[in-house]
Amino acid sequence: MTHINPYYSRLKTSYLFYRINQTVDALRRDHPQERLLLLGVGDVTLPLAPAVIAALHRAAEDQAKQESFQGYMPELGKDFMKQAVADYYARRGTKLDPAEIFISYGAGDDLGVIGGLFAQENRVAVIEPAYPAYVDTNLMAGRTIVSVPGGEDNGFLPLPPEDLEAELVYLCSPNNPTGAAYTRAQLQQWVDWANARDAVILFDAAYEAFITDPAVPRSIYELPGAERCAIEIASLSKTAGFTGTRLGWTAVPQALIREETSLHDMWVRNRTTCSNGVSYLLQRAGEAALSPEGLAQSGKNLQVYRANAKILTDALEVLGLPYTGGKNAPYVWFRCPKGMQGWDFFDFLIDRARIVGTPGVGFGPCGEGWFRFSCFGTPADTREAAHRLREIL
Ligand code: MLT
Repeated sequence: MTHINPYYSRLKTSYLFYRINQTVDALRRDHPQERLLLLGVGDVTLPLAPAVIAALHRAAEDQAKQESFQGYMPELGKDFMKQAVADYYARRGTKLDPAEIFISYGAGDDLGVIGGLFAQENRVAVIEPAYPAYVDTNLMAGRTIVSVPGGEDNGFLPLPPEDLEAELVYLCSPNNPTGAAYTRAQLQQWVDWANARDAVILFDAAYEAFITDPAVPRSIYELPGAERCAIEIASLSKTAGFTGTRLGWTAVPQALIREETSLHDMWVRNRTTCSNGVSYLLQRAGEAALSPEGLAQSGKNLQVYRANAKILTDALEVLGLPYTGGKNAPYVWFRCPKGMQGWDFFDFLIDRARIVGTPGVGFGPCGEGWFRFSCFGTPADTREAAHRLREIL
């Protein structure tokens, strides 16, 4: 008899965003005439930059000609793409060797498999409320989760507690879902904590492009000592609108050694075994997205999403609801009105205003009573949502 992975029984039936997408599908089916305002899943709505589209066309032409046709890609990424990522960091003064960069189909894919580098007995700290994949992927692997609670008292930016017993910690800054972002001094405390204990930080940098505050680091490698304790997982999904196009990277520094073993070499072994590389077309698109021209073009989209954040936070101010995020981050995180619980407010917003958001409790128990809006909607939908919100509250 085949024995299945027993740890799946530790999971909730549905993954958070799958449940929300299913709700949206049902609403569309049941109310086809109504205007739904989608501020739930953080999916971008503006098109790719012209530089990216031109690169995709050129790459398609390359594949059409014998002399430029490309077969399998190198498992770790094409040199031009790794160099484009290294240059992206270097322009901000952060040095990464292209050999330390592994091109991926996006942060989600690598977040799902990076745990394979670590033994099952490691205890995994997550800052709650947390992006649910950090918890679910480790539950599936049979690891123990240690919650580090974030709340209003610490601005949703907890620092390492004195008594924290963990060997791995997930950090996401700017944070999904709260939008809160660690300053350099705060993040340094986590780096020092990890180095003092030989722990490893898995740093999710998916939202770094939204940072405007110079006190907030855009990469963990801006901090001294991070190259000895941190893996950074990054993506073009939000930076350049690649949610449906897919491209990201993971940085594993050569200096990251545990039990006299190079984690970089282990990740090479993992990727060369489990991946046939990322498609040539997407790597050319990624190279274009990270060019100064591509970044300037997608930067205009980021300005639109920032303006959406302002529309939403202005509405919350008028309503007197406490919130975080919206600055340095594309999520607005706010207290549910009238003491409502997250899923009740979720239903209330759908019933009364056809607005779909995300209940904070979906990100763990610390998120109960809070709610998240994505700022990636269209400006028209975001304005309409702010208007309906004021009407019903
Ligand atoms: C979110 O809504 O948190 C994101 O869209 C999820 C993701 O990026 O995978």
